[in-house]
Amino acid sequence: MNNFPSVFEAINDLSKDQIEGLLILARKFKERDHDKPQFPNKLPIVANSFLENSTRTKNSFAIAIKRLGCHYLDFNTETSSLNKGESLEETLLTLYAQGVDLCIIRTSVSNQLSEFKNNTPVKIINGGDGTNQHPTQALLDLFTMQEIGIELEGKTMAIIGDCIHSRVGHSLCELLPQFGCNIILCGPSDYVPKTPEYEGVEISNDLESTVKRSDFLYTLRIQKERHAGSTEAAKHYDTYHDKYGISRDKLKAWNKEVPVFHPGPANIGVEISTDIIKSSLYKGYDQVVNSIYMRMAIITAILSNNDKNIGIIDGTRIRD
Ligand code: CP
Repeated sequence: MNNFPSVFEAINDLSKDQIEGLLILARKFKERDHDKPQFPNKLPIVANSFLENSTRTKNSFAIAIKRLGCHYLDFNTETSSLNKGESLEETLLTLYAQGVDLCIIRTSVSNQLSEFKNNTPVKIINGGDGTNQHPTQALLDLFTMQEIGIELEGKTMAIIGDCIHSRVGHSLCELLPQFGCNIILCGPSDYVPKTPEYEGVEISNDLESTVKRSDFLYTLRIQKERHAGSTEAAKHYDTYHDKYGISRDKLKAWNKEVPVFHPGPANIGVEISTDIIKSSLYKGYDQVVNSIYMRMAIITAILSNNDKNIGIIDGTRIRD
C-alpha cells in the first residue's frame, strides 16, 4: 500500500485505493491466507496508549498486535509520567527512543493527534479522539457490511442516535459515501447537526420515515460523558427509547427487519432493545470479530510504510 500515512487520524487521511487495500488485506488475514510472518527481519514494538476507557478497541488492537507476532507494550497511562505533567509529545518521543515503532492512542481530546502529522514522534493510529474520529471502527464496519453481503452502491444507511457527539458517526460519514452509500443521521434535534456537514448525508428527526427509507441501520449510544451537563442533551434521556430506540416491534410494524449495527458499548433498553441484540438482525458481534482482522491490516500497512521522518529532533533521528 503506497504512502500509507504515519499518523492515521481520520478516514480522510486515506485514499480510496488505500481503503480498498486494507479491505483486501483484512480479508486475507481472516481467511488465514497470510500466515507467513509479516515482519521477518525485526519484530516491531507496538504500544497501546489508552487515555480514555475502552473494551473493544483496546483489546482488539492488543490481540491484532499479538496475532501479527509484534512485541506488545501495554502503556499504562494512569501510572505514567503524563500524570506528572509530561506532554503527550514528550511521552511519545520517549517511547520512540525506547524502541516503540507504533502507538495506538485513544484520547478524550478531539483533534489532539493533528499536531503530530508534521513532526511525527512515533507512528500513530487513532483509537478514537473525543467527538472527532474513530477511523478504525468505521473501516471494520465497512469490512463487516461487505462481508455480510451488503452492496453499498445506491443503498441508504440510517445512523440513529447521538450523532453530534459520535466520533464513529463522523468517520462513517467520511467513509461510506465513497462507496456510494447514502446516510441519514436521525435523532432528536439536540443529537443531530442542524445542516448536513458531509456530501451524501442528510438529517432527520423522524425515526419511522427514516427507517422505512433505509436498507440497514447503525445505532449509537447516548454519549453522556460528552454532554458536559448540557440540559438540552439531557432532556431526551428518559424518552429516548420510546421515540428513537430500535426494537423488534418497531421494525416488524414498519416491515423493515433489516441488519442492525452498533459499535458498542450498547445501552440495552435505550438505543437498542434486548430482542434486537439477541436476534440474527444484530451485527454487533460480527463487527467485534472483524475488528481483529481490519486492525491487523491497518497495523501492517502503517508499519510497512518505510517513513524515515519519525522521531527527528533538530534534523537528526533520535534512533535508527
Ligand atoms: N467501539 C468502541 O470504540 O468500543 P470501546 O469504547 O469499548 O473501545
